[in-house]
Amino acid sequence: MDLDGKTAVVTGAGNGIGAALATRFHQAGARVVLADRDVAPLERVTSALNAVRPNSAVAVVADIGSEQGNIDLIQAAQEAFGFIHLFFANAGVAMGTFLEDTDEPTWEAAMNINLHAHRWAAKHLLGDWIAAGEGYFCSTASAAGLLSQIGSAPYSVTKHAAVAFAEWLSITYGDRGVKVTCLCPQGVNTNMLNPPGRQDGIDKRGGDVVKASGAVLEPADVADIVYDTILAEKFLVMPHAEVHTYEQRKVDDRDRWLAGMRKLQSRIFNS
Ligand SMILES: NC(=O)c1ccc[n+]([C@@H]2O[C@H](COP(=O)([O-])OP(=O)(O)OC[C@H]3O[C@@H](n4cnc5c(N)ncnc54)[C@H](O)[C@@H]3O)[C@@H](O)[C@H]2O)c1
Repeated sequence: MDLDGKTAVVTGAGNGIGAALATRFHQAGARVVLADRDVAPLERVTSALNAVRPNSAVAVVADIGSEQGNIDLIQAAQEAFGFIHLFFANAGVAMGTFLEDTDEPTWEAAMNINLHAHRWAAKHLLGDWIAAGEGYFCSTASAAGLLSQIGSAPYSVTKHAAVAFAEWLSITYGDRGVKVTCLCPQGVNTNMLNPPGRQDGIDKRGGDVVKASGAVLEPADVADIVYDTILAEKFLVMPHAEVHTYEQRKVDDRDRWLAGMRKLQSRIFNS
């Protein structure tokens, strides 16, 4: 895929993996629409890209946790740069812990942002993509979407659902020119894994498990791997090789895998 002059939209582009994806694809020649609800970092990243190449990046303040938020973002991106070639459904939240401690609004926000946002964006992109016979959807799920997230039911469930949705999209529209890539990292050095300041409602032991399970990668390195995967038009981005091993163990013997996960859970939460 030649990215020169192509348009990419990245949600959650103000920080972390989204900022790195926007920067990487911009570096490859794409015009980038950066979307986030966190205004100051969003504007900072966008200004930095425009300083490299004037008028090549646009910031859209957006809340993608509703269908209208996705419609408004897609319209703003089309008004800025026309046809959207690539859409990165990357914004995500690590919300909720155990069933007893997670209220309905938390479940709803996690489902809307981590899952439904992907569906709403795809729904409003597909018409143009099928008509043109091209379009690229990249979903940021997580290794938690292939395995599980110790200590967070909403994160485990929504990330599994995001992987399922990306697979379904590829199966259903792949033969009509729609390409899909799904990013499933383990630990990445961002605000999500290392929240700045005190975070109410987040149990930091979930992040500690992630950090103890393998290397913590830098967002720019993850973005490089996503870039190579998209150029190769492959589905899965698994930046941590150990996740492949864990997934193989899960598929080979689920009871054994579950017993191992229970042991890990007990070590973290009962010690
Ligand atoms: N950091 C990790 O270890 C890790 C591992 C696996 C998957 N992920 C996934 O990577 C993605 C990016 O996360 P990150 O690690 O860069 O974290 P981050 O917190 O640095 O970035 C997430 C961004 O999404 C934005 N966002 C959240 N909800 C939004 C909404 N409703 N509307 C608009 N913007 C919204 C935030 O403002 C933030 O800028 C997420 O989907 C996350 O689940 C992260």
